[in-house]
Amino acid sequence: MSGSASPGTATTLLHAPQSLVQTADDLDRCVAAGWLALGADAMVEAGVDVCHPTRSGERRPVVIGPGCLVRSGTVLYSGVRLGAGTQTGHHVVVREDTEVGDESVIGTAATVEERIRIGDHVLVQTQAHLSGLTVVEDYAFVGPGCVTTNDLRMLHRRAGARQHLVGPVLRWGCRLGAGAVVLPGVTVGREALVAAGAVVIRDVPDRTVAVGNPVRLVGPVPDDEPVLPGSG
Ligand SMILES: CC(C)(COP(=O)(O)OP(=O)(O)OC[C@H]1O[C@@H](n2cnc3c(N)ncnc32)[C@H](O)[C@@H]1OP(=O)(O)O)[C@@H](O)C(=O)NCCC(=O)NCCS
Repeated sequence: MSGSASPGTATTLLHAPQSLVQTADDLDRCVAAGWLALGADAMVEAGVDVCHPTRSGERRPVVIGPGCLVRSGTVLYSGVRLGAGTQTGHHVVVREDTEVGDESVIGTAATVEERIRIGDHVLVQTQAHLSGLTVVEDYAFVGPGCVTTNDLRMLHRRAGARQHLVGPVLRWGCRLGAGAVVLPGVTVGREALVAAGAVVIRDVPDRTVAVGNPVRLVGPVPDDEPVLPGSG
């Protein structure tokens, strides 16, 4: 870093969160400012930033549905929507315009990037990272430390190159074991089972077990592991 440190400036102040909740009054202030719609019986712990602005300073309303539990350290960016009964663990970051459905859980220290669609009854476990544009359908299970990706050639700041971001799709009721990595645009099929540590470079068919790096298909998911009675 070059140059001398500058004293606190108006710019610094503009970037202060202002939507950081420490007391019930702070919550009321965020609702009054139009930054937050809070459902009945939702709980927001102290130390949650309920409508963090985008880089351009935009703050579109955040929706925290009825019965949600948002734990301390969570940062919800502008335009995030959490459905009824959904929970976040501690130190979760959900970036702008991402939507999470009903009765889902985003585990401790998970990072959920922008414009992601997460369905109902989804479990995203501790320290998972979902890249922007990922689609996670209902009842999917994303194990601890999983990573989804959206930029195959990593063209960020490559002169003249056109970056093409495409998120993976995790279909209804699929399961990703701990530390699995899913490449851009790949679809993990309905009720498919991906092993711990797998690198999913190609689509996994419905109800198929996939293991290894690169992933290989080792057979069907057993019939006695349906997500819901009769779903398998
Ligand atoms: C995929 C999984 C469910 C398979 O379990 P299983 O049905 O008991 O299968 P097996 O142990 O008989 O393994 C079947 C084959 O897959 C291979 N395999 C299993 N898990 C693997 C893994 N994580 N990575 C690479 N290969 C794996 C086995 O070596 C075996 O290969 P082979 O037939 O060539 O010998 C299990 O190994 C797994 O990875 N579970 C994920 C656990 C997890 O991360 N939970 C998250 C919440 S804590």
